[in-house]
Amino acid sequence: MGDKQNKGVDSKKREVVREFDEFKGFKTLESCIANEQHLHPESRGFFADILRRIGVASKIIESKVQRAGLTNVLGKQGNVNVQGEEQMKLDVLSHELMMNTLGWLPAVAGLASEEEEDVMRLPPHPDENDTYVILFDPLDGSSNIDANVTIGTIFSIHRRVTKWGSCELVDFLQPGYKQLAAGYVVYGSSTMFVYSSGDGVHGFTLDPEVGEYVLSHPDMRFPDQCKCFSANETNYNKWDKATRKYADHIRFNDEDERYDKVSSRYIGSMVADFHRNLLYGGVFMYPADEKNPNGKLRLLYECSPMAWLAEQAGGAATTGTQDICDIEPTELHQRTPIVVGNKQEVELYKKFCKEHPGK
Ligand code: AHG
Ligand code: MN
Ligand code: MN
Repeated sequence: MGDKQNKGVDSKKREVVREFDEFKGFKTLESCIANEQHLHPESRGFFADILRRIGVASKIIESKVQRAGLTNVLGKQGNVNVQGEEQMKLDVLSHELMMNTLGWLPAVAGLASEEEEDVMRLPPHPDENDTYVILFDPLDGSSNIDANVTIGTIFSIHRRVTKWGSCELVDFLQPGYKQLAAGYVVYGSSTMFVYSSGDGVHGFTLDPEVGEYVLSHPDMRFPDQCKCFSANETNYNKWDKATRKYADHIRFNDEDERYDKVSSRYIGSMVADFHRNLLYGGVFMYPADEKNPNGKLRLLYECSPMAWLAEQAGGAATTGTQDICDIEPTELHQRTPIVVGNKQEVELYKKFCKEHPGK
């Protein structure tokens, strides 16, 4: 071929390459999990299998959520769960999907879900005792399901502490700081898988055309600004004195420029509220109130994983007197008050709790 012709071919090639520019450095959840596994040559691949399977489960849930209005899965199931809350059809479906997708993995010793009173013990691995338990909230934000408002899935992974036979309750009752990984999937205007295995928080957006989670938000950190105050403010009169004073301080503060741009933002799906605050900066809280002396949210599969993620992202989470990740659990479905978000705001809440005790 002559020189002239060659140039023509080269520029065509370059055009083609440019067209696919967006796929350069295309890091998928799958490739990041594999990379992490290669950093630990002693790894058995079990942990990677679990993360992959949660990714798969979440894609199936996502597809059900997307088509919910077309497939008769909106509305109530007609049952009340162990929390005394009415289950939605999608709560039950997501629970079943998580159980079925994770339940056959040899690395998993047991599963616990918001939607089931007891833990599910899986047959012990014939050769491995050092396996894992997974706790999850299959669908968070049930009250938003029928209105097409953002909902999510939360998970927490612990190494089992018992060594032989079937797992036991004690394997699940571990404080948050012992988590090996935690994360959530947020089903919003796009679907994101956000997780940490102890090395920062990383967010992957589902590319619906390719069907893969693609790294879009590496190393997520709370920005140092307080833009969002997220609480169910209709509970204000039922909060204790410290919490009321704290809410007023953030909402109506004309002196501290830190709060110049703060706005009330509350979706009523913890996953969605947390995710937005992680991106924009702010604080989410579900404190104790007269009706719920231990708060509303559950420690092991809602608060602990979110608290751990917050810490990994430079934030913090407290009950007011204790770090959420330090709570030694005593019951599978126990609740805890929580204030989670920017470290500065969480520290401030602790200070208010010290300075303004009582009702
Ligand atoms: P779930 O749907 O898993 O039961 O959780 C709902 C939780 C949480 O996501 C949210 O922050 C809170 O309930 C909302 O409660 P209020 O409706 O009382 O504000
Ligand atoms: Mn929930
Ligand atoms: Mn739920």
